[in-house]
Amino acid sequence: MNVHALSHIKSIGQGWTLPHLFYCDDGLKYVVKLMNNRQGLGVLANEFIAFRLAKLLNLPAAEYKIVYISRNLVEIFPTLKRLDVPAGPHIGCLFAEQGITLNHKVDLSACKNIKTMAGMIVFDHWIKNWDRHVTGANHLFLKDTKQLLLIDHSNAFCGPEWDTKELKEHAGTIEVYWGPFYEVFTPYIDGSDPFEPYLSELEALDRRELEHAVNGLPKQWRISSRMLETLIEFLYRRKNLVRGALLQLQDKFPIWSKH
Ligand SMILES: Nc1ncnc2c1ncn2[C@@H]1O[C@H](COP(=O)(O)OP(=O)(O)OP(=O)(O)O)[C@@H](O)[C@H]1O
Ligand SMILES: [Mg+2]
Repeated sequence: MNVHALSHIKSIGQGWTLPHLFYCDDGLKYVVKLMNNRQGLGVLANEFIAFRLAKLLNLPAAEYKIVYISRNLVEIFPTLKRLDVPAGPHIGCLFAEQGITLNHKVDLSACKNIKTMAGMIVFDHWIKNWDRHVTGANHLFLKDTKQLLLIDHSNAFCGPEWDTKELKEHAGTIEVYWGPFYEVFTPYIDGSDPFEPYLSELEALDRRELEHAVNGLPKQWRISSRMLETLIEFLYRRKNLVRGALLQLQDKFPIWSKH
């Protein structure tokens, strides 16, 4: 579950959290979002929890681990020192050497796990992950295995600010998303009932599985148990609302709409 960073490689991405690539003590590279990233600490919890929730639905989420950066490492690497990176637990996403985002031209017809993108649409609605339908930057296509991977859940759960008032407000309603990075998958996932069995799997989750998914966050990420309780309630209530919300997308799916 945890690894230690051994060396800093380079910065990666130009956008929100400006992650950095690190080589870690399991011999693998991780794209690491730092505790002092400019979107805030909540990003780390969002990534970690959303990854575990994606796994509950058997979705192809990239692997996330807590990455420890030592004071010593910060002293050795000038970039880390300049960024004043705090020693401690950060969040890392296993680096996919062969990964390109969907902002590049990708032949989706060759993709081996494209059916799982129906589950991605269910998942994004459940966790309120509002940005994946509008950007290709949060899907990775692996050129060698021709698989899609989901990355970057920073904006889930009403965003990284961890506002429990907002979580409570949004526990009982689901906003329906539609955009180019859902639309590209329509021809591949359309069918008589495209979101089954993901909806059934989601609805069958019990509270203990959700408790387990939010468990074990480092205390340095400053998410209190009261905040986690609110998140569990948010997820528990919303899981039974996704089916009804997605019905509003039926006219986007030619085959589904005939049923
Ligand atoms: N596990 C990974 N393997 C390969 N590349 C990755 C991985 N994770 C992230 N990247 C690359 O780094 C970029 C930034 O990562 P991410 O999307 O998680 O952060 P971000 O804060 O949204 O930054 P950006 O706004 O630049 O997308 C991704 O768009 C992708 O190109
Ligand atoms: Mg991103």
